[in-house]
Amino acid sequence: MEHNGDWKTLSNEALTKEEKLKWAKVCYPELVQLVQLLQSSTYTVVLTGAGMSTESGIPDFRSQSGWWKNIDPRKVATVDALEEHYSLFQEFYQTRVKALENIEPHIGHYILAKWEKKNLIQAIATQNVDGLHQKSGSKTVYPLHGSIRSFRCHHCDQAVKEEVFMNEDSCSICGGKLRPNVVLFGETLPSDVWDSAYQSIEQADLVIVIGTSLEVYPVNELPSLTKGKTVLVNVDEVSGFYPFDVIVKGKAKEVLEKLNELLEL
Ligand code: APR
Repeated sequence: MEHNGDWKTLSNEALTKEEKLKWAKVCYPELVQLVQLLQSSTYTVVLTGAGMSTESGIPDFRSQSGWWKNIDPRKVATVDALEEHYSLFQEFYQTRVKALENIEPHIGHYILAKWEKKNLIQAIATQNVDGLHQKSGSKTVYPLHGSIRSFRCHHCDQAVKEEVFMNEDSCSICGGKLRPNVVLFGETLPSDVWDSAYQSIEQADLVIVIGTSLEVYPVNELPSLTKGKTVLVNVDEVSGFYPFDVIVKGKAKEVLEKLNELLEL
C-alpha cells in the first residue's frame, strides 16, 4: 500500500478500514495518537485561543498579521486606555464589532459542537470573545475573556445594546463610558467562568489546546493543571515550558477536519 501522505488515500474505496488506519499511523502519527486519546478519554476539555478563529477571518493577536503587530495593546485594551484615551479605545472595539458582522464559524467550530453532542468532549474553555463556539452550537463554553457581543456602562454597569455602543459615547443613565464585556488587560476574569474552567480542566483526563500562544496569564496556567494528557494543535511553536504529550503542527480547521475523518472511519 502506498505510504505517501496524500490524504485522499483515506477515501480510497479499495482500502479496508484497517489498511487506512495503518496508513494514517505511518503518515499522520500525531493525528492517530490524538484520535486514540479522544476515544479513550472520559472527560475531555478543549482550550482555544485566537488561532481557532483565524480561518473564519478574524485576525489573532501575536502572529505576523495579528492585532498587536500594529497596535500597542496598552493603548486600547486596558482600563487606563478606556478612561484616558476613550476615542481610541472606542474606535478599536467598534472596528472589531463591525468586522464580526460577516463572520461565521468554520467547520472546525461545528466539528467541536458535534463532538460535544456525541459526548466525545465535555467542555470548551475559550479566550476568544467572538462567540463563534456558541454560534456553532457548542453548549458548555467558558468564555474566559468575556464577550465582544454584549456591552455595558463602565461606571454603572447598565447593560446597553450593540447599536448604542456603536453610536453613542456615554451612558444614558449616568453619563459613564460605554464598553464591551471583554476582560481588559489587568482586569480579573469572571470568577464563575474561571472556576468552572479550572475545575473542568483539573478533572479532565485529556486537554486539547488549540490556537493559542499561551502568553497570557492566568489562562496560560490552565494546561498544567490537569493530571491527564495534554495535546497542542497550533501552526507555530508555543514558547514556555509545556511538556505537551502530543504536538500537532497545523491549522485548527484542517486538523479538526482530518481528526473527524479518522474518527468516522
Ligand atoms: N490554526 C492553528 N493555530 C493558529 C492558527 C490556525 N488557523 N492561526 C493562528 N494560530 C496560532 C498562532 O501561531 C499563535 O500561536 O494561534 C496562536 C494565537 O496566539 P495569540 O495571537 O497570542 O492569541 P491568544 O493566545 O488567543 O491570545 C490570548 O491575548 O490579547 C489577548 O485577550 C486577548 O484572548 C487574547 C489573549
